[in-house]
Amino acid sequence: MHCISRLSGRYGQLLLITEFLSLISLFCVIRNVIHIVYEELKAIGADSAEPRARRILAGLGFTRSMQDRATHNFSGGWRMRVSLARALFLEPTLLLLDEPTNHLDLNAVIWLDNYLQGWKKTLLVVSHDQSFLDNVCNEIIHLDQQKLWYYKGNYSMFKKMYVQKRKELCKEYEKQEKRLKEMKAQGQSRKQAVSTTSFLICLLIYV
Ligand SMILES: *[C@@H]1O[C@H](CO)[C@@H](O)[C@H](O)[C@H]1NC(C)=O
Ligand SMILES: *[C@@H]1O[C@H](CO)[C@@H](O)[C@H](O)[C@H]1NC(C)=O
Repeated sequence: MHCISRLSGRYGQLLLITEFLSLISLFCVIRNVIHIVYEELKAIGADSAEPRARRILAGLGFTRSMQDRATHNFSGGWRMRVSLARALFLEPTLLLLDEPTNHLDLNAVIWLDNYLQGWKKTLLVVSHDQSFLDNVCNEIIHLDQQKLWYYKGNYSMFKKMYVQKRKELCKEYEKQEKRLKEMKAQGQSRKQAVSTTSFLICLLIYV
């Protein structure tokens, strides 16, 4: 009897210890999970999420009271601004904007212009607003002759380089024309002469 009670007593103590140990390890796991969640929240800027959202909305022309209204209470133009604000807030790796200044008043355009100048990720924008392109873009892609041509620099730089390129093409074309006339004068067949210039003529038609 004595032995059995001692044994069960020890067994009881053992159980208590293993329970205690598993409790401690559970506590450690919970603490680690909390730590990970906290780090993730910090990484996505959860504490600054609302101020950041309000800053973007204010920049796009939403007053404080407008910021608290439901989206369906806004007209189409303002809903476009809400979409734009959402895209800016999400900060995607690649942001595609099609004529973003179209639905904005001057103040909002100026704000957006400034905001995008500090954009750290890739932005692909289609716009007819030349000063906006000049301020925001550092590379221009020109769709020409069914090909994409890449230019480093702002829009003004692109225009300059493009004019230069056209001038050079025209010069080349004139040279070819002259050669064509000379060949004709030397009595070569017209067909043979034309084949050397047709490529450049095509280029000029597209430009
Ligand atoms: C939405 O608009 C209606 C009518 O203009 C108004 O009564 C309602 O209070 C508005 N809701 C919000 C959330 O602003
Ligand atoms: C465009 O870029 C050039 C070269 O970097 C710079 O000198 C010029 O001021 C820029 N123009 C505008 C309008 O930003």
